Amino acid sequence: MKMVDVILKKKDGQALTPEEIRLFARGAADASIPDYQLAALLMAICWRGMNAQETACLTMEMMHSGSVIDLSAIDGVCVDKHSTGGVGDTTTLVLVPLAAACGAKVAKISGRGLGHTGGTLDKLESIPGCGVEMTQERFIRQVQEIGCAVIGQTQDLCPADKALYALRDVTGTVDCVPLIASSIVSKKLASGAGAIVLDVKTGSGALMRTLEESIELAKAMVDIGTQAGKPILALVTGMDQPLGTHVGNALEVKEAIDILSGRAGGDLLAVSMELGSRMLIAAGLARDTKEGKARMQAALESGAGLEKLREMITAQGGDGRVCDDVGLLPQAAHRIAVPAPRSGYIAQMDTTQIGYVAQGLGAGRKEKDDVIDPAVGLVMNVRIGDSVEKGQPLATLHVNNPAMAGEAAARMQQTIRIADEKPVLPPLVYAAVSPQGVEGEEGRQA
Ligand code: URA
Ligand code: CA
Repeated sequence: MKMVDVILKKKDGQALTPEEIRLFARGAADASIPDYQLAALLMAICWRGMNAQETACLTMEMMHSGSVIDLSAIDGVCVDKHSTGGVGDTTTLVLVPLAAACGAKVAKISGRGLGHTGGTLDKLESIPGCGVEMTQERFIRQVQEIGCAVIGQTQDLCPADKALYALRDVTGTVDCVPLIASSIVSKKLASGAGAIVLDVKTGSGALMRTLEESIELAKAMVDIGTQAGKPILALVTGMDQPLGTHVGNALEVKEAIDILSGRAGGDLLAVSMELGSRMLIAAGLARDTKEGKARMQAALESGAGLEKLREMITAQGGDGRVCDDVGLLPQAAHRIAVPAPRSGYIAQMDTTQIGYVAQGLGAGRKEKDDVIDPAVGLVMNVRIGDSVEKGQPLATLHVNNPAMAGEAAARMQQTIRIADEKPVLPPLVYAAVSPQGVEGEEGRQA
């Protein structure tokens, strides 16, 4: 079998056989196929697509391209949550401790910031001393002992995805449903998850901007997980504005601690409750979302969630005292308000641009080896639907280099549209996708 024939076949719009898909995935993992041929096939897949069988086959080949973690030593179902990525999306740091405090076992492999989106590993590393690397043995022991661990991907997990993702990033082939679905689900399967809850973002800060594409992605992932025999479901949630108010690494840790301490709430907590209640159902700890949310709420109000976060941070080498005193987190030297250029209602935001503003201030990487500044970022002072007076702050920039603030403030002003009319508020949960089908959920009314 020649790789060029596989490329030609996909270019013509034909479905690939399992053998052809194996050649592609193994060739990516062991570098036996040159990057230019891998890239050509990736582009052909973007144009011609893959059917459900091809996508499932690619997922399994990528999963088995490296080692698969065995979590069977942990008592109970290990339940995992994965977000397709967003801005101010700190659900992991809120719901993992809450779900673990309710008795769930969460063995989570997280990622770093990518493009305009933040990454949980970078957020955890902003906590003094906190590490995100450990042996598989210690990972399993921590989950068994305290109920949760959040670490980075080991070298030998899904090497085919590692190679293909790096190529996709630089060849314009990221936003393709079968490629995203196989990339995400292969990593979840390889990390040993017993049940999977997916958070597929939709809107101006999401990988998939339209609801139709987001539902298609959710369906593709649920379909693959089901074929692999895993309980799996997806919520399609709004990324029409940053989910939390804080964007930046230490800032997002602070917001998670504020929420777990009962000092903050809002959409970040609401989406965390929606996802967390589904994790409890998947783990057999709640019968329905009502019971799941009630248990999560009880863990929030008793402070058990905050205690669990402290245990996890301490177990990973970090200073657990940040849970009592967020002042121990890195802080930027300057806070600079971004004034509203006119009066009116907050109508719309380009959330991807807000993510890039935070990245530009140093909260994310522009190049792979950039060093991030854990302290910097921004805090949103408004949400869609709020009314503002000219000059009132839209957001507050947290910067160490005040020379960067002027351009960042101007970009924030361009990114947030202010209108005369009060807009309809975007829903928080757009749809729930399970093996049984798609259920729409009610949006919030303005
Ligand atoms: N996240 C992933 O892990 N893979 C993708 O393809 C997109 C987002
Ligand atoms: Ca992520």
